[in-house]
Amino acid sequence: MDGEERKVSLVVRNYDPKTDLLGVEDVERRCEVGPSGELSLFTDLLGDPICRVRNSPAYLMLVAESIIGEEKEIVGMIRGCIKTVTCGKKLSRNGKNNNEATPKPVPVYTKVAYVLGLRVSPSHRRMGIGLKLVRDMEEWFRKNGAEYSYLATDNDNQASVNLFTDKCGYSKFRTPSILVNPVFAHRVRVSSRVTVIKLPPSDAEFLYRKRYATTEFFPRDIDSVLNNKLTLGTFLAVPRGTYTAQTWPGSNRFLSSPPESWALLSVWNAKDVFTLEVRGVSRVKRTLAKTTRVLDRALPWLRLPSVPEVFKPFGLHFLYGLGGEGPRAVKFVKALCAHAHNLAKERGCGVVATEVSSHEPLRLGIPHWKRLSCAEDLWCIKRLGEDYSDGSVGDWTKSPPGLSIFVDPREI
Ligand SMILES: CC(C)(COP(=O)(O)OP(=O)(O)OC[C@H]1O[C@@H](n2cnc3c(N)ncnc32)[C@H](O)[C@@H]1OP(=O)(O)O)[C@@H](O)C(=O)NCCC(=O)NCCS
Repeated sequence: MDGEERKVSLVVRNYDPKTDLLGVEDVERRCEVGPSGELSLFTDLLGDPICRVRNSPAYLMLVAESIIGEEKEIVGMIRGCIKTVTCGKKLSRNGKNNNEATPKPVPVYTKVAYVLGLRVSPSHRRMGIGLKLVRDMEEWFRKNGAEYSYLATDNDNQASVNLFTDKCGYSKFRTPSILVNPVFAHRVRVSSRVTVIKLPPSDAEFLYRKRYATTEFFPRDIDSVLNNKLTLGTFLAVPRGTYTAQTWPGSNRFLSSPPESWALLSVWNAKDVFTLEVRGVSRVKRTLAKTTRVLDRALPWLRLPSVPEVFKPFGLHFLYGLGGEGPRAVKFVKALCAHAHNLAKERGCGVVATEVSSHEPLRLGIPHWKRLSCAEDLWCIKRLGEDYSDGSVGDWTKSPPGLSIFVDPREI
């Protein structure tokens, strides 16, 4: 080929696990989040680059391949998934005779697409590859009837914010908070005034549909989330002396005369999907962290807040579907988080994480370390077509946020 001009081209095509795995892993490694020289967070997708979307009803992964003569190189990728979620609510009369029943809020659903895991190799940036990947992914979204597309990004990630807002027509939509708590070497005490009951998935589904289906982003296929093997359980906290696992009457009867306060949440085992690792930390800080862990393990009764082992790959549990009612709901959420901490400890996780609306009243009950958390996870949204009917909620992208938001564990 010497002396001849070699043809350079770029193709965007579907990911093929047989030929693309190593190339994709290589790009992933080179795209560690965080500016070089400082702390970075490395994600190990455990040999399955589709893992972060494969639990969704419909998903796709595209790769960008640079072809120079005979040489082919994966230089970028993007993942996307589509599902049906609540975008608002309307009042509806239940029952055959419209005049008889009192109107009650029912969810309005829409088909949304979610973009995640967009990466372009540092050596190929600012060449329009990211833009092409997003456009091709949006094409697939439209073909499959998605009405909106959204993504979550770090507000400080200028490249990604500019790409989506300036170039692709997305607007800033919501800013929920990611709350992260370390898993200590000691068990956390669960309040003795609370009983925690593990609900069967069908009871959990009933409760969620009855009470939380009008929450923004509530997935219409909540049953498949709850029945997914990654859901370790839905836990309900009730005042001690009201119910136990043995006297649990089922969700229908529970809701017909609930105790004054109660709370629930579900636990998703993200540890089996990916692991994280903090890189770029000095030896001194690593040693200090190790010392706190050694002490916590040796003297668990002191309940020292040890720094978790985050400098080696660690897994996480994600808490989703957080809800509660009554004046003591925040306390009940706290008890559930303690229960979830102990479950994570038993299963060898490094952290427990959740994501809630910035207006969520129950967030007061969620223990977290500020330094590990992210106060504003920026969600951007775009309406994919002008020809959609406005439906009963109008253009969702222009609607004000609600008190709560449902963060689907399949997309973390
Ligand atoms: C974000 C990312 C995918 C962009 O990929 P890319 O191929 O370089 O992007 P493009 O060349 O298509 O750029 C399109 C537009 O995005 C914006 N943009 C891209 N990189 C930018 C940067 N470093 N600073 C500011 N704006 C930037 C610009 O508006 C750009 O248009 P322009 O070049 O005409 O000014 C890439 O920087 C990346 O992989 N970053 C690390 C992983 C990441 O943050 N992913 C996003 C998570 S949601």
